[in-house]
Amino acid sequence: MVLVFPDQPVSDEALLAFGRHFGELEVFHQDIIRSKRLPEIFRVSNVDEDGNLMAPNDPVQHQISLARRWHTDSSYREKPSVGSLLHGVEVTEEGGETMFANMAAVLRALPADLRREVEGRRARHDFENLHRLKPLKPLTDEERARMPPVWQPMVRRHPETGQASLYISPIYNDAVEGMDPQGAAALVERLEAFIDDERFIYRHRWRPHDVLLWDNRCTTHRVTPYNPAHRRIMHRTTIAGRDRVEAA
Ligand code: SIN
Repeated sequence: MVLVFPDQPVSDEALLAFGRHFGELEVFHQDIIRSKRLPEIFRVSNVDEDGNLMAPNDPVQHQISLARRWHTDSSYREKPSVGSLLHGVEVTEEGGETMFANMAAVLRALPADLRREVEGRRARHDFENLHRLKPLKPLTDEERARMPPVWQPMVRRHPETGQASLYISPIYNDAVEGMDPQGAAALVERLEAFIDDERFIYRHRWRPHDVLLWDNRCTTHRVTPYNPAHRRIMHRTTIAGRDRVEAA
């Protein structure tokens, strides 16, 4: 579900060329994180494109810090991403590890009561939920219109392996079918806490120029905290989805 390619000091152009072997690449709908030079590069970085360290209270830093909670890339799109490639251009010595959870294993291990809650249900994924979690740079009308909320099955089938997995993205989930807002939030929180167990997790400690490739259809990921005064530049490119999510 996650491949690690150590010691790949690639240019952004080479990263994109490699990504294109797997399909079209997404262009992020918000200008603050998208690279100005190459729009298919999504900058997970506390350093701006001119090389300056951003202040810890910069709105981009607030937004990026939300990735400390479990999420799967672009689950708020009607056809969510197939997979992502992440290049550690400058990495932190402490913290800033990326954790990946195997969501098929999570589903298999769910206690019966939680499994009953998710089977046959859909959760809503709304990009704008990020703005309810933290004060961020407001979306423009155009950005909002480009990403309306979508309902996705909570148990999905992998289109290639047929394997079932839990499909949630807690930073985007703002509603669950058939539940009031408190019940929905409590369910997502219980699931999120359940994922957070080392038996489901691969934890990547970055070395400069590691490149990771992962499957967004059966994993979630999150980053561990790091000192915002230490430079961290990660360049991601996201392989666009081809299909709607199928329930399992
Ligand atoms: C991401 O959530 O795509 C980036 C994870 C990271 O910063 O390590």
